[in-house]
Amino acid sequence: MQRQKIAAVLKNSAVGSELDVRGWVRTKRESKQGFAFVELNDGSCFASLQVVIDQSVPNYAELMQQLTTGASLRAIGELKASPAKGQTVELHAKSVQVYGTADAEKYPLQKKQHSFEFLREIAHLRSRTNTFGAIARVRNAVSSSIHNFFQSRGFLYLHAPIITTSDCEGAGQMFQVTTLDLAKLAHSKTDVDFTQDFFGKRASLTVSGQLEAETVACSVGDCYTFGPTFRAENSNTARHLAEFWMVEPEMPFYELTDNMQLAESFIRTTIREVLEHCPEDMAFFNQRIDTTILETLRNIVEHDFIRLPYTEAVDILQKCGQKFDYPVSWGIDLQSEHERYLTEQHFKQPVILFDYPRTLKPFYMRCNDDGKTVRAMDVLVPRVGEIIGGSQREERLDVLLSRMAECHLNPEEYWWYVDLRRYGTVPHAGFGLGLERLLLLLTGMANIRDVIPFPRTPKHAEF
Ligand code: 4AD
Ligand code: MG
Repeated sequence: MQRQKIAAVLKNSAVGSELDVRGWVRTKRESKQGFAFVELNDGSCFASLQVVIDQSVPNYAELMQQLTTGASLRAIGELKASPAKGQTVELHAKSVQVYGTADAEKYPLQKKQHSFEFLREIAHLRSRTNTFGAIARVRNAVSSSIHNFFQSRGFLYLHAPIITTSDCEGAGQMFQVTTLDLAKLAHSKTDVDFTQDFFGKRASLTVSGQLEAETVACSVGDCYTFGPTFRAENSNTARHLAEFWMVEPEMPFYELTDNMQLAESFIRTTIREVLEHCPEDMAFFNQRIDTTILETLRNIVEHDFIRLPYTEAVDILQKCGQKFDYPVSWGIDLQSEHERYLTEQHFKQPVILFDYPRTLKPFYMRCNDDGKTVRAMDVLVPRVGEIIGGSQREERLDVLLSRMAECHLNPEEYWWYVDLRRYGTVPHAGFGLGLERLLLLLTGMANIRDVIPFPRTPKHAEF
């Protein structure tokens, strides 16, 4: 017989079906009447399947010894209506085969509630818990929804390089990639000769695929990247990772308002689809992680986002009478306390801030005529703050060159990027969404380390 997944069994199988299921024991209860209930989970859905094992099953006594929490098994039997509360059906086993036992004394996932901090230390096992199983499924569902969103609109999926020699964001947060012998270099008194390095010059892990995406968008049209991104930000916050996944659409012939429209519909569509595809996992988050999560998400799906120039946001923050740790004045980079005030207290919904001071933003953003601001946009959401950063791009060669000079960038090193403005330049725009920030919003989890399977943060790269 073929292996059946528990998700499909619970959804489709009729009482009376012969089943062959496999998975891991969540719990086992032995009754005094000489049979046992095993909660079997295979990760395919939130629910476990109750497997009833009685003494007619070969090796019953031995099975009772072997089947402790964490053990893996195969059960063949018949699906029957369950007389007890908690489930509508249960599997009456005819045979049970144990693949691997899990020493009850040593198995780290005991029945009691573990802290998320502890579970991070056993990230290789944490997906076996309710919370992390649900996160894994929601992460998968939202990734699939992201591809659907762009594919259904005719966007091309672009694989941007991971190794790069240009710093897109100009923030100096790049991890270097080298084959030079660092131990030897440490003792050398001369400057590092990068011509001797693997790529013949200084190379790094990418902080963004945007610059490459711009070149592709300006050749074959709307495209998007979706891949890992690396930033050596030494900020130990609950919203930063050194390795995170970013989605970056780039669209020729788009101006900032088109960009906002796409970003908004992107967030609302993916949230709606996750609510549709993962109802049990989402109900769990709402019950156990954050009791406002479904209400917040429905509110986002059902209402238009607020759009507000940065300058007006500063005005609101200055006049609101709220005491902030970082005082607000025109020109400051808004802190998460400010972003949260706007989305959680003032507007109570997502806000797209645009036209930021140009001193705060990278060289590629289009300059406004006021000489002070650029066509940047950040999408801010309740609880998380910034979830998307994007802009209309500077398509005018002379303005781009003067912005590069202002940002101390050498146009020769970006010659290919500058070329786009020399040959058939067009207005274009794009944005980047941090997948893990979206997952924080979706799940109500408080720490970004808990929505990626194996988090990388300062001093942490285990597993
Ligand atoms: O605002 P950012 O830096 O924008 C860019 O990288 C542009 N090149 C995007 C574009 O226009 N194509 O980053 C975009 C998003 C942020 O809004 C945030 O959601 C996420 O990436 N992000 C991080 N997520 C987790 N950990 C970090 N260290 C992050 N840095 C940015
Ligand atoms: Mg940003």
